Amino acid sequence: MKNYICEQLGIDVPVFAFTHSPDVVIAVSNAGGMGVLGAAGMGPEKLDQALQKITEACPGKSFGVDLILPNNYVGKEQGGLDINSLKTQIPEGHKSFLEDLLKQYDVAEIDADQANAFTSTFGQSVTYKGARTLAEIALSYPIKLLVNALGTFPAEFREKAHSLGIKTGALVGQVKHAIRQKEAGVDVIIAQGYEAGGHTGDIATMALVPQVVDAVAPIPVLAAGGVADGRQLAAALALGAQGAWTGSVWLMSKEAETHPVVKEKFKEADASQTLRSRSTTGKHARQLRSAWTDAWENPDNPNPLPMPLHSMLIDNAQRRIKEDANQGRKGGKELINYFVSQNVGLFTEERPAAEILEDMVKECDEVLGRIGGLANSKTNKS
Ligand SMILES: Cc1cc2nc3c(=O)[nH]c(=O)nc-3n(C[C@H](O)[C@H](O)[C@H](O)COP(=O)(O)O)c2cc1C
Repeated sequence: MKNYICEQLGIDVPVFAFTHSPDVVIAVSNAGGMGVLGAAGMGPEKLDQALQKITEACPGKSFGVDLILPNNYVGKEQGGLDINSLKTQIPEGHKSFLEDLLKQYDVAEIDADQANAFTSTFGQSVTYKGARTLAEIALSYPIKLLVNALGTFPAEFREKAHSLGIKTGALVGQVKHAIRQKEAGVDVIIAQGYEAGGHTGDIATMALVPQVVDAVAPIPVLAAGGVADGRQLAAALALGAQGAWTGSVWLMSKEAETHPVVKEKFKEADASQTLRSRSTTGKHARQLRSAWTDAWENPDNPNPLPMPLHSMLIDNAQRRIKEDANQGRKGGKELINYFVSQNVGLFTEERPAAEILEDMVKECDEVLGRIGGLANSKTNKS
């Protein structure tokens, strides 16, 4: 299944695995795909440690890093405000709503000093200054691909990456954004449809991918959103994509650091149980419905804050919820959720990441063979 993008990036199969878990990057890259580490939310020290581990565990293999630098966020004019200036912009009403929600679900306290910290690694990494620090670390490792989600790829990062022979990529949810990324000199465009887990727009993969392929040719396009098995990988190739950029499927891999209660919820969920909600980052992101999303989607309650204020507001609450769920407590289990795609109904068991990749590629080959057979049989009849 080796094609142009595989040759460009030194991989055996055109499957890109976005993940926050370094062990998933290692497993996928060693199995011939490309693991891409999501750096937003890691902070400089954690990113450095993760890349050191991956570099040692994947000698000679291709892997990448993904940043989130949106076009719009609070404090953009200044390249990102410091934590203290941002903290003053979090309304008291939001703080008390959140505190009441945690009380209502009897979520246990954790480290009292943190209760009013309102710091968030994610909140800091999605600003220009934060993303630049992460990009500099990423570019000091032998990565093959640097990707940006949400915003136009910054010229400064692109020039540095290209001078090191590193390709650049960007996620888009609309044709006009794809054209903007082409003009910004990006090497690979990732057309991500509505089905996807995480930040997503409102156009479906099936409609978006062919339109982006046509608009940015000859730049290679990866299809993202709704690809978790070989049938869907074959569909992505049929739409004109060079490969698939996948995220949710790896959350159920054995190597993933997904919260165990979340994995159990995914096993029970069906495709109708996700929604696009601003309740986790302040921008629309597809996630599993839970008491948390219900509370934030309720029109009687405050609206989520813009990025990065919302992540700062909820950072400590989210840690409390995870810990509460860890302890098997009811409130935490009801509130906890995570980003996931509409493919969640396919996620019934945990499997090693290499096996997921191998089965995806094998099934894709079978599907393409079967479809080729159908085309031939029609030709034979006519
Ligand atoms: C848990 C999770 C976190 C994500 N975080 C990011 C991120 O930080 N940066 C990014 O570019 N995309 C992020 N995404 C989107 C993925 O890169 C990818 O486009 C998407 O998962 C593809 O659709 P799928 O979920 O149907 O596989 C995330 C997706 C998930 C499921």
